[in-house]
Amino acid sequence: MARIYLIGFMGCGKSEVGRCLAEKLQLSFCDIDERVEQRSGFTIAEIFEKFGESEFRKLESSALFSLRNSGDMVISTGGGTPCHHDNMNIIKSSGISFYIEVSPEVLAKRLKSSRIERPLIKGLSDQELLDAIESRLSRRDSIYQQCHYTINGERPITEVADEIAGVLNKALSEEIG
Ligand code: S3P
Repeated sequence: MARIYLIGFMGCGKSEVGRCLAEKLQLSFCDIDERVEQRSGFTIAEIFEKFGESEFRKLESSALFSLRNSGDMVISTGGGTPCHHDNMNIIKSSGISFYIEVSPEVLAKRLKSSRIERPLIKGLSDQELLDAIESRLSRRDSIYQQCHYTINGERPITEVADEIAGVLNKALSEEIG
């Protein structure tokens, strides 16, 4: 199989799709945010609050790097993971990457109820949330677009996972054939 990275903005479904895909492909699964929390002993919100974003980015990068010898697996990154340090180069050179693309309007709807736990959008009004998503997404778009494949994420999780599995099977069979 391969090492598979799922990339995309908060709320695009990376973690849920990742779990579903890993089960389908019988691969192990790692969520970078969860790994940061396990390794540091703090929640993501606590890390931002106590130590600031730049410290979080160091921990995030180190969590990604720590997986370098872990073999084939499905890895769900955090929304900002590919945009900091040398992370996108690590991702592109060590596996197959999928950008799960979702429009700002749909992301805003999905993220409304989880604003409190997410440091970058905490306390924003509905309009501020949409504006923040639009501006951050436009800054990140050129990095997300560097992924090997872009997948439409505005569908049920199982459909997104099925499409990724299909793309992978095709790519790997072409490689063998
Ligand atoms: C972030 C996304 C979050 C988490 C942190 C920062 C970002 O992960 O890593 O709050 O910069 O977009 P999810 O995309 O898994 O929510």
